[in-house]
Amino acid sequence: MDRFLIHGPCTLSGSVDVSGAKNAVLPLMAATLLSRGVSRIRNVPNLRDTRTMGKVLETLGAQVTREGDSLIIDSSGVVGVEAPYELVKTMRASVYVLGPLLSAMGTAKVSLPGGCAWGPRPIDLHLKGMEMLGAQVELEGGYVVAKRPGSRLRGGTMDFSTSSVGATANVLMAAVLAEGHTVLENAAREPEVAQLAEALVAAGAKIDGIGSTRLSIEGVKEIAPLQVSVIPDRIEAGTFLCAAAILRSKLKVNKVRPAHLGATIDVLQSCGCSFEIASDAIEIDGREADRALNAVTRPFPGFPTDMQAQTMAVATLLEGISVLTETIYPDRFTHVAELRRLGADIRLDGNSAVVKGVAQLSGAPVMATDLRASAALILAGLAAKGETLVDRIYHIDRGYEQIEEKLARLGAKIERIPGPPTP
Ligand code: UD1
Repeated sequence: MDRFLIHGPCTLSGSVDVSGAKNAVLPLMAATLLSRGVSRIRNVPNLRDTRTMGKVLETLGAQVTREGDSLIIDSSGVVGVEAPYELVKTMRASVYVLGPLLSAMGTAKVSLPGGCAWGPRPIDLHLKGMEMLGAQVELEGGYVVAKRPGSRLRGGTMDFSTSSVGATANVLMAAVLAEGHTVLENAAREPEVAQLAEALVAAGAKIDGIGSTRLSIEGVKEIAPLQVSVIPDRIEAGTFLCAAAILRSKLKVNKVRPAHLGATIDVLQSCGCSFEIASDAIEIDGREADRALNAVTRPFPGFPTDMQAQTMAVATLLEGISVLTETIYPDRFTHVAELRRLGADIRLDGNSAVVKGVAQLSGAPVMATDLRASAALILAGLAAKGETLVDRIYHIDRGYEQIEEKLARLGAKIERIPGPPTP
């Protein structure tokens, strides 16, 4: 297992380009199963998760080729309907093939993903959505087996009890080829869901209400292969903004959509960072970051749960008491114990973390526990005095493209120490 060795503290400067969004490309890759032919997805980050999704598609019979930053996915030969446990257990997003397979092939057999480091992470809403479209859904031997009784699913109405990115995307993909009209109420309106819907519309699907909490879908018999360029990763961009804040640095973050980062910018502004915002770039000046901050995670356009850990790292060095409250995944705090090892003063109070700013963090060996927690540990390690060794960084390789190289180019002292192969 590779590790990162970090020498801190450091100051960053310069500019960095953000990669395509992991959480946008994974459902887009699954959506290529809705048509027969060659889809082209551009601006695809080369990540462990995108490679895993490629393997899932190949297992089903698709051909997946990388050409530069594009993925060419030929779904003509898809005959399989099973996403096996070996792949799903390494990446929950594999469950995105459920809707497309069910709709296009008539059957889908997808391993149940199980829990993750911060809780149970159910997929009940995905399954309820498939049933709403007329599918018969059963659980057999750890797998979800879904079957479409007729030659097409049939439209229906679903009011999501919880706003869910994954369930909205999955049910949307199934509904585009269903017969008749489907309405999804309380749908997630994260930019990644909007991008999926737009790409489907460009391929011939009929979807109204994109970007709102009410998606209205008129089923079509077929759609064309996808042609789409992946939106910039707002969480990667936000992570660099947090790097500037915790390291009291000035940075320019390029190739972003600032409108996707409103809540993150607001929180960082509240602690003293200032911003210059262009159409596709954000300049942050974190040199005056000193006041405590408060943040509550909410569905988009609220403050993202995927930014909570990195923002907590920033809070560890702010003057006063910051409070970060998690409403999406109440147990998503595995980074707290590791940040404490670096000298942070953090107390958990229900689903809130109460962070008392300290004057300095000090380097220590720490363990990454999940993707965003790893990012938080890297940020804290860059700010801490001395040497920090971050273990189990295979988590970060799931979702950040060349993070150590990007940070090193900005002036960070961070290097990858290769270890034995990842489990
Ligand atoms: C997606 C992202 C993940 C991000 C999360 C929150 C992908 C591949 N993953 O995950 O990186 O951290 O959004 O922004 O895009 N819920 C249910 N039943 C379900 C599904 C979800 O109760 O069937 C609940 C969850 O427990 C949670 C909430 O809904 O409380 C939101 O979850 P959701 O948006 O679905 O997150 P994911 O799609 O798993």
